[in-house]
Amino acid sequence: MKNYLNFETEIKDLETELEKLKDPYNQEGLSEVDTQKISITQAELDQKLCELCEEIPNVEFLNNGNFILDDVEFIGGTLWADFDQQNDQTIAHAHEIIPDFRRIKIDEGFITPKIMIDEHKACCDYIFKALETSDRPKKVVITHYLPSFRSIDPRFADSPLNGYFASSLDELIESHHPQVWIHGHTHASCDYKIGSTRVLCNPFGYLHVELNLDYAERAVIEI
Ligand SMILES: [Fe+2]
Repeated sequence: MKNYLNFETEIKDLETELEKLKDPYNQEGLSEVDTQKISITQAELDQKLCELCEEIPNVEFLNNGNFILDDVEFIGGTLWADFDQQNDQTIAHAHEIIPDFRRIKIDEGFITPKIMIDEHKACCDYIFKALETSDRPKKVVITHYLPSFRSIDPRFADSPLNGYFASSLDELIESHHPQVWIHGHTHASCDYKIGSTRVLCNPFGYLHVELNLDYAERAVIEI
C-alpha cells in the first residue's frame, strides 16, 4: 500500500504531533495530519514513524509489529474491519457515510473498503500468528479498531455502520487467549471478557465536542 504525503511538511506535522506524546498528561490527543500529498511508500512511512517514536520514551509504533517487555509481548496493528464479513450493504453504506473514504489517499485515489478488508486480513494474520508463536507467558494485543461487537457503544447497538468499526474475532480471541486486548476507535469505555481475555477501551472522547465521562485518567492494568 502506498501513501502520498508531502514528505517535507507533513512529516514535520507528524513530528509536532508526536511531541505531544512526550507529555504523559496530554489530554488533547493527536490532531489529524493532512496525509494527502506524501509521496513515500507505506514501508518508508512506517520506518519514519518508528524512528520518531524511538525518540519518545514509553512510545512504541506497532503497525503489525510487536514489542517485548520482560515476560510480556505486546502485539499491535490498526486491525481495520471486514464490513460484516464483506457484506455488500455494509460496504456501500460505510463508503457513503464514513469520511475516511474521501480523506485517506492511497496511490492515485482514495482508500476503498476492499483495501481496508485486505489490510484487516493481513493484520488478523499477523496478530494471531504472533500469538501462536510468542514464547512469552503473557501477551497483550493493541489495535485501533474493535475486535468484537461487544465493544460497540450500546447507544449505537443497531447502527448499520457497526461492521465498519468492529469485527467478530471472539472465537479467535477465545482460542488464542491473550491476557488483554486493548482497542480504540470508539468513544465509550468498555471492560469485559472474551473467554479468559480482558477487552479494554478507555477513550478520552472528543475534546470540545463530547467527552467520555467514564474516562479513567490514571488507569493502571495488571497483567
Ligand atoms: Fe478511529
